[in-house]
Amino acid sequence: MLVLGIESSCDETGIALVRADGAGVPVLLSHALHSQIEMHQAYGGVVPELASRDHIRRVLPLTQQVLDEAGQTLADVDVVAYTRGPGLAGALLVGAGVACALGAALGKPVLGVHHLEGHLLSPFLSADPPEFPFVALLVSGGHTQLMRVDGVGRYEILGETIDDAAGEAFDKSAKLMGLGYPGGPALSRLAEQGDPAAFKLPRPLLHSGNLDFSFAGLKTAVMTQAKKLGDGLEPRKADLAASTQAAIVEVLLKKSITALQRTGLRRLVVAGGVGANKALRSQLNAVCAKAGIRVHYPELHLCTDNGAMIAMAGAMRLQSGLQQATRAYAFDVKPR
Ligand code: KG4
Ligand code: ZN
Repeated sequence: MLVLGIESSCDETGIALVRADGAGVPVLLSHALHSQIEMHQAYGGVVPELASRDHIRRVLPLTQQVLDEAGQTLADVDVVAYTRGPGLAGALLVGAGVACALGAALGKPVLGVHHLEGHLLSPFLSADPPEFPFVALLVSGGHTQLMRVDGVGRYEILGETIDDAAGEAFDKSAKLMGLGYPGGPALSRLAEQGDPAAFKLPRPLLHSGNLDFSFAGLKTAVMTQAKKLGDGLEPRKADLAASTQAAIVEVLLKKSITALQRTGLRRLVVAGGVGANKALRSQLNAVCAKAGIRVHYPELHLCTDNGAMIAMAGAMRLQSGLQQATRAYAFDVKPR
């Protein structure tokens, strides 16, 4: 079974082709990505209308590229999977519209995939995929969740953010420091030159006793600190970036360890854009190695949005029998 995946929920157009044979882990044949980051940079954030227009420009050439690289044609595709949500409505409609149009023209069924399930299952694209069950730390620009994962579609939320997501905390703090968009990677690069203990920043809900997160207060503390520094911010920027990153990473780390202890599970999967963060990876690796816990990440280039994770999640859902592909071709998207 060949599954074509289309991701267009935000500012990346991602297309991929996976092959799923029997019950084995599906194999990625090819994938292509076009990032709109440069286009949105001038505005300091994603402009939804521009995002939709650019997806329209990119989606078919990228699809052709992916098919060519895999030595396949559209006629070989068995199912078209697309991101149904969450995301920007207009951007999602491009992926859904193209998926349904291809499906209708080829007489092949389509499948709407949850964007976060794509992130969650993206470590299955790596050479050493995880085994169920595991604890998942899902950290993206819009979501921060700890989950118990017993199989495809068998997810129990153990805790989540009550306000900002971890990626948002990175992005908003970076913006306050004038680091531009997207803030997470910029802040973490600058943090490498700073002292993580330079500023005392709050670790919200660290001792709350539950597995929920809160990052809004941290952002406010960073803003207060930046204002206090005033003109003195510039020479202390790396220190403030390092201190901000240290606060976010410490909370993510401690809560993940607590989730592992409470569930008794010995495997952790980290997925979503913030999973690319070097400090988070190295600290998790060190703590988990000591405790005898395996940590799985998606490959670095598959941490942020991409089509491979959508093709993979679609293929795994079909294999599990959880969801049937449909010939209804409704352009159903779910932005929220
Ligand atoms: O998963 P993703 O690509 O999109 C969503 O589904 O939201 O995540 C994007 C988020 C952004 O907030 C971005 O700043 C953050 O991931 N991010 C990082 C890093 N790379 C991406 N945050 C910290 N360190 C990074 N290296
Ligand atoms: Zn995402």
